[in-house]
Amino acid sequence: MDAAELDAADPLAPARARFVLPDGVIYLDGNSLGALPGPVADRLRDVVTRQWGRDLVRGWNDDGWWAAPERIGDRVGTLIGAAPGQTVAGDSTSVQLFNALTAAVRLQESREAGRDGVIVTDAGQFPTDGYLADSVGRLLGREVVRTPDPYAALRRGDVAVLAWSTVDFRTGQLWDTGGLTRAAHDAGAVVVWDLCHAVGAMPLHLDRDDVDLAVGCTYKFLSGGPGSPAFIYVARRHQDRLELPLTGWNGHAQPFAMEPGYQAAPGIARGRIGTPPMLSMLALDAALDAFDGIDLAAVRAKSLRLGEFFIAGADEAGFEVITPRAPERRGSHVSLRHPDALPVMAALIEAGVIGDVRPPDVLRFGFNALYNSFGDLARALEVLGEVLASGRYAEARFQVRPTVT
Ligand SMILES: Cc1ncc(COP(=O)(O)O)c(C=O)c1O
Repeated sequence: MDAAELDAADPLAPARARFVLPDGVIYLDGNSLGALPGPVADRLRDVVTRQWGRDLVRGWNDDGWWAAPERIGDRVGTLIGAAPGQTVAGDSTSVQLFNALTAAVRLQESREAGRDGVIVTDAGQFPTDGYLADSVGRLLGREVVRTPDPYAALRRGDVAVLAWSTVDFRTGQLWDTGGLTRAAHDAGAVVVWDLCHAVGAMPLHLDRDDVDLAVGCTYKFLSGGPGSPAFIYVARRHQDRLELPLTGWNGHAQPFAMEPGYQAAPGIARGRIGTPPMLSMLALDAALDAFDGIDLAAVRAKSLRLGEFFIAGADEAGFEVITPRAPERRGSHVSLRHPDALPVMAALIEAGVIGDVRPPDVLRFGFNALYNSFGDLARALEVLGEVLASGRYAEARFQVRPTVT
């Protein structure tokens, strides 16, 4: 089938109208910053003018601001297979990772006192995950093992925590959350999943898979907006023993008692830290409306077909595709290797096709099944072919590295 036929048969095609997409742009970078969902602008206007402007500090009670982190956490929970009361929104993924990793080491320690196990993490992962694992390792006196093969690392027999990303940010490789969690548990380890490149792009089953802890961002496939709050998932069975290191007053059992000593709140509320960024939080709330009535299995099915379509075009053009081809090992972006990735992407963006690059030589194209069409991909491949054939990416203006790539 060609792109037009695939689009005509696409049951998710109407979801595109839920987003504001600029004319003349093909947006294949929703795995970095999701496109703007329609309801967000009006909702934010209301939050700013009516809630903040009129209600002032009463908004914390009257407009439900105080309860928003747990309420919105539960909305994210429905997308990651988490029953209510296990997910809370707030802060950045980096902050949540620090909290989760530290708590995971402490949790494992409380089960097996005296076993100074190592933290195992992905050698090729997004840098913040590695930086924070190193920092937690230094703070708690634990060795950090970086490996491409978590199953082999678990066979060491001394793993306290396995911290892994569901989808690799560079290659798009998808890991088996359930299988790897089971292997980690069999080895006596606690798992911390980073769901950044998976949440909103596929069904996830954290409760079913017996996951211990997970974190994720909301500005990619959830389209929460630039810098929108991250989230942490803590399985209910761990919540009341979990010693999170960031003991901010919002996570206190009685935050407004203003007591001098910290007493963690029961349940997921202890995952709160400081005052939540309410404008971003409520923008995320509005953005999540884009998922109302959407079946994540359909999102996944379309995302895989988009990937297949793009890989077939990239193969035809002679690209080296570094994303796994097997559907069960592929997330929702496809990465191509090209020695001039940076200027090629700059030329593509000038021509209206937005993807991104990751060092040293990776062109990354993300597919959001809610708003990307097969027609988008066909056009992107056409422009890519044209940029390469013309050689115009070699022009000086495309050689300048922007601050954010
Ligand atoms: C896997 C992964 N983890 C974490 C982050 C970012 O963390 P933060 O939200 O703290 O910037 C990203 C950003 O792209 C990511 O891809």
